[in-house]
Parts: sequence; C-alpha cells; structure tokens
Amino acid sequence: MKIFIDTANLEMIKEINSWGILDGVTTNPSLIAKEGTDVATRVKEIASIVDGPISAEAMSTDWEGMVKEGRELAKIHKNINVKLPMCVESLKATKVLSSEGIDVNMTLIFSPHQALLAAKAGAKYVSPFIGRLDDIGSYGTDLLGQICGIFENYGFDTEVIAASIRSPVHVLDAALAGCDIATIPYNILSMMVSHPKTDEGIAKFVADFEKSKKK
Ligand code: G3P
Repeated sequence: MKIFIDTANLEMIKEINSWGILDGVTTNPSLIAKEGTDVATRVKEIASIVDGPISAEAMSTDWEGMVKEGRELAKIHKNINVKLPMCVESLKATKVLSSEGIDVNMTLIFSPHQALLAAKAGAKYVSPFIGRLDDIGSYGTDLLGQICGIFENYGFDTEVIAASIRSPVHVLDAALAGCDIATIPYNILSMMVSHPKTDEGIAKFVADFEKSKKK
C-alpha cells in the first residue's frame, strides 16, 4: 500500500519524506487555508520536496470552470493531480480532464455508487472519507472493502485512496481492505512507528549493553 501524507505543512512533509516511506501528498482547501498560503504556491513547493503524486483541489462549481482550473493546476508540475468534489459537474469535468491525460482525484466519496461513477468517468483516484462516515454513526471502513471489491470485479484502474483517516486502526483497515493508498495525517504516521514493547526492548538492550561494557 502506498502512503501519502494528508497535509499542506512543509515541515511535516519534509520530516515524513526523510523517513523514506512517502509516496505522495494530498491537500484540500482547509489544509491549505491552515498554512496561510494559496494552492498554486504550496503545491509547487511540495513538488520540490516529494517525487510522487500531489493532489490540488479545484474550487469551481461548474464543469467548464473545473476543467479550466484543472488544466492550470496540472501545468504547475507533472506530478499534480486535480482533486474534484463528487457531483454531476465533476463527473463531466473528469471525463474531459482524463481524456487530456490529466489525473483526477475524486474526493468526498461517501458511497460505493459514487466511486463507481467516478471510475467510469475516468478518475485516476477516488477518495472515500472514512472518518467522516464514522462521525455520523456509519462504518467508514466497510466502504473501503465495497469499493475495492467493485474495482476488482470489473478491472478498473482507478486507485482507492483511504482518506479522512483518524487513527492507526483506520490505516490497518485500509491495508486489509486492499486499498492502493492511504493518505495519513502526520500525527497518525508518528503513532504508527511506536510500540511500547519496542521502547521497552530498546531500553533493555541499551541497559544490558552498558552493563556488559563494565565487566
Ligand atoms: O483527505 C481528506 C481529509 O483531509 C479529511 O480529513 O479529518 O477532515 O475528515 P478529515
């Protein structure tokens, strides 16, 4: 499973990239706003750090506007894909952009039906938001299995990005469901590294090594 970081913060991106495990980056308008910058500037900066797909969201609400914005975003760097929110207009825009070789990440996916339509329109990625489904009392991770199963049944090339990840368990669920990618916040990636038994084991090895030096 590929690992993307879900942030627009350059320090976090640099740190995770230095771990040697980072395959790409997703941003959204809320994450960009938190950094006090604009999408074009920030994705250009991210592209200079990470050699992998970077999602940049288009904000138009009609398909012609989405196509225009998508073409501009794609011009920034070869690794940029255009994030569009799931709706009729974005399906139309996806058809056009994908026919021009511009990758689309269809975001705000909350049902398998939406994912199927996005794949049919030619989206390169679909982003099911599992944490936000949990928020309203649904089982977000069930959606991952349904989408992966449908794409497998029909041989769609569209990749599934597990998004709105709120815990290491969500990452495990994404991997077990067979998702191609999980886009993970910095704090969850940090949690994934640690285990109390690892810390305990390291402390014991260090203590025993120090003791053996004294003999
Ligand atoms: O990738 C989508 C993600 O940024 C949304 O996460 O936690 O706002 O639901 P969250």
